[in-house]
Amino acid sequence: MAKKTNTKLKETENVNLQIAEQPKKKTALKVADNPIKNCKPYNDIDLNNWKDYSHILTNSLWLFPSRDKSGKHSNEYHGNYIPQLAQQFFERFTKKKDIILDLFLGSGTSAIEALNMDRRCIGVELKPELADHVAEKFSQKELVTDVNIISADSTSEEAKQKVQDRLAIMGEEKAQFLVLHPPYDDIIKFSNRKEDLSNCATTEEFYDMFEKVAKNGYDLLEDGRYAALIIGDKYAKGEYKLLSFGCNQRMEKLGFKLKAVIVKDIQGNERAKGKNANLWRYRALYGGFYNFGHEYIFIYEKPKTKKLKNAKKNAKMVA
Ligand SMILES: C[S@@+](CC[C@H](N)C(=O)[O-])C[C@H]1O[C@@H](n2cnc3c(N)ncnc32)[C@H](O)[C@@H]1O
Repeated sequence: MAKKTNTKLKETENVNLQIAEQPKKKTALKVADNPIKNCKPYNDIDLNNWKDYSHILTNSLWLFPSRDKSGKHSNEYHGNYIPQLAQQFFERFTKKKDIILDLFLGSGTSAIEALNMDRRCIGVELKPELADHVAEKFSQKELVTDVNIISADSTSEEAKQKVQDRLAIMGEEKAQFLVLHPPYDDIIKFSNRKEDLSNCATTEEFYDMFEKVAKNGYDLLEDGRYAALIIGDKYAKGEYKLLSFGCNQRMEKLGFKLKAVIVKDIQGNERAKGKNANLWRYRALYGGFYNFGHEYIFIYEKPKTKKLKNAKKNAKMVA
């Protein structure tokens, strides 16, 4: 039985905000064991019992007071995303045993959560030493059947080919969900490698490299399935740079259909780690800017191609 998300909703008095709380203990994820009659083709949510899913967020403001550090999750990697995001994505947009493709795997949050929720994962990470470290979190058996970690440059044809090969080994042609959590341009420098998106000379170059990764993701994702982009903005030379909207433009250019924009809080501003909060507050007051308290999650659908739609229509007519 898969694990339940550790979020529970609460409504504030004045506004209809959904605030995610940390429950005291973990319970099983709401994944039905029996065939569900009324559910979408891309998840296992039983719509006949939709009131049972109050832990699934449907509001576009996500507030998480703290990170889930249970199980294999740790906060060792500066720049990782909180597992609660993966829990929300995977329950809402995937079915049991679906394959989640993460093209910026980092410390493996998507892979860990995929397994916790009885899904599978293929992850690509540029830094071989990090890919090896993440692989050590899984048993040999899991690495054969459920998790595939590839060390490669996700902008490349070679990475796309490697993912295709792993998909074939896992008995699939395409992945069923795509996670994109790129570096936020050069805010955190992940390595000195020239293929690293955090090492671009200009923001325009960052967008171009991001687009190459997103194109690979688009080609590797099944039609009619969903993708999540997690990204924040930055200040450069006293000016606000909307990296999030820039990346979104590239996503839409590739054909992804934008379904939602979610604002997520950043607790304890990771980027200011080690620095004095008061110092940042003073700088903000002095410089006329605001310290980051949010980032974005964009949810996309890869539209069904006409070919697929027609094939389904014909199959129905024959039946
Ligand atoms: C924001 S972090 C992702 C963190 C991850 N979601 C987690 O929870 O640990 C971005 C990651 O992308 C990797 N990266 C940068 N450029 C890449 C590229 N061209 N191909 C693959 N990975 C890349 C970095 O090494 C870094 O680990």
